[in-house]
Amino acid sequence: VTGASAWPAAEPIETARLWLEPQREDHADEMASVLDDVRLHTFIGGEPATASLLRQRYARQAAGQSPDGREGWLNWIVRRRDDGAPLGTVQATLRRGGDAMTAEIAWVVAIGHQGHGYATEAAGALASWLQRRGAAILTAHIHPEHGASIAVARRLGMRATGTMVDGETRWIGGETRDGIRFQAPTPDD
Ligand SMILES: CC(C)(COP(=O)(O)OP(=O)(O)OC[C@H]1O[C@@H](n2cnc3c(N)ncnc32)[C@H](O)[C@@H]1OP(=O)(O)O)[C@@H](O)C(=O)NCCC(=O)NCCS
Repeated sequence: VTGASAWPAAEPIETARLWLEPQREDHADEMASVLDDVRLHTFIGGEPATASLLRQRYARQAAGQSPDGREGWLNWIVRRRDDGAPLGTVQATLRRGGDAMTAEIAWVVAIGHQGHGYATEAAGALASWLQRRGAAILTAHIHPEHGASIAVARRLGMRATGTMVDGETRWIGGETRDGIRFQAPTPDD
């Protein structure tokens, strides 16, 4: 495909403590060790990826969109500004339904760095950035017993819907830190 993607591209995002760096293929080795813990997969399934698998995944994701162009794929490495330590990742999958752009977001923080509010800070900044880039609807899918992730979604001002998708509850947002509300999705979003 030549020409510009139909989707916004990931850009660096800065928060009080964090630096969200657009993910590149050469982050794979570093992230493979950061994310090498089966406990990160308790609620999301799967297992830790080897560096080589992660390199392939990051290379695919670097396209910024699905092969058919119907989804935008935006991924960031989350770093601590203090020392540059990689803490985890955040991602957004963009889709269009009618006029509205929907962003589905997800977050991961390494076991040793959890409990410091990093996921909330990273995902909150991501939600604001997405809204500035035109996302009208924010969604996330969270296992109903995943207390930490539910807490993050609540802190973002998201609320649980009655919809389950593959055993996960659909959450919708919400209000960004800038106080701007996301729309309620229609049933097809
Ligand atoms: C979900 C996850 C990103 C949270 O990361 P984190 O940086 O520790 O999150 P934060 O520190 O911003 O917030 C965690 C919140 O969960 C709360 N929490 C932690 N464990 C909890 C539990 N077992 N039950 C209820 N709440 C819990 C914390 O108290 C905190 O809430 P608070 O801010 O109101 O005090 C991290 O646990 C993770 O990566 N898990 C594995 C991957 C995953 O499941 N990703 C989410 C897919 S939807």
